[in-house]
Amino acid sequence: MNQDQLKQAVAQAAIDHIRPSLTDKSIIGVGTGSTANYFIDLLAQHKGFFDGAVASSEGTAERLKKHGIPVYDLNSVSDLEFYVDGADEANDHLELIKGGGAALTREKIVAAVARTFICIADGSKRVERLGAFPLPVEVIPMARSHVARELVKLGGDPVYREGVVTDNGNVILDVHNLMIGFAPELEQKINNIVGVVTNGLFANRPADLLLLGTSQGIQTLTR
Ligand code: 5RP
Repeated sequence: MNQDQLKQAVAQAAIDHIRPSLTDKSIIGVGTGSTANYFIDLLAQHKGFFDGAVASSEGTAERLKKHGIPVYDLNSVSDLEFYVDGADEANDHLELIKGGGAALTREKIVAAVARTFICIADGSKRVERLGAFPLPVEVIPMARSHVARELVKLGGDPVYREGVVTDNGNVILDVHNLMIGFAPELEQKINNIVGVVTNGLFANRPADLLLLGTSQGIQTLTR
């Protein structure tokens, strides 16, 4: 199977996981990226069995709406049983690096609200140690240089993602060569830099279930 087929297979595994719990009142949190897109397309086949979705990006909202799936503002939703999203890296503690698609802040917000965060990825995303993928950091535009200098003090090499403006009107710094020891601590340290909106480490709120598509089948990791 190629990488796209693995992404589609793991998206189907997420559908199979959530499908028995869905009721006509269920609202599902939906992530952003190519794996999440496969999930949306498959979810559309079960439209009559849940109420709607909360989207983690404008792109995801548009795709959901194209399928006729109602999209709710998170503020009008009191209960989100599942959040399903991809990742750029995942370790065996189900800590993640996300934000390759620049949607990290809304993704982190929806993940925080959801009772169960299901991460879906092809097997290449599983790593022993996080950090080979440059860590995305969403930054208020006027703070870009200040935040970059602070990130250098933490040992990283921040690179401005040229031409990208997030759905929240901010910019992204991709931090290369970071030594990620204890991920929850580094996540908080970076978030404490004035001007940072959030960073792509999902360690304080890791996934609850990690589904990985491999050529040997779906691997399931839980916390
Ligand atoms: C977007 C993300 C994505 O989940 C991550 O980049 C993985 O994307 P893909 O499923 O296309 O490999 O965090 O901000």
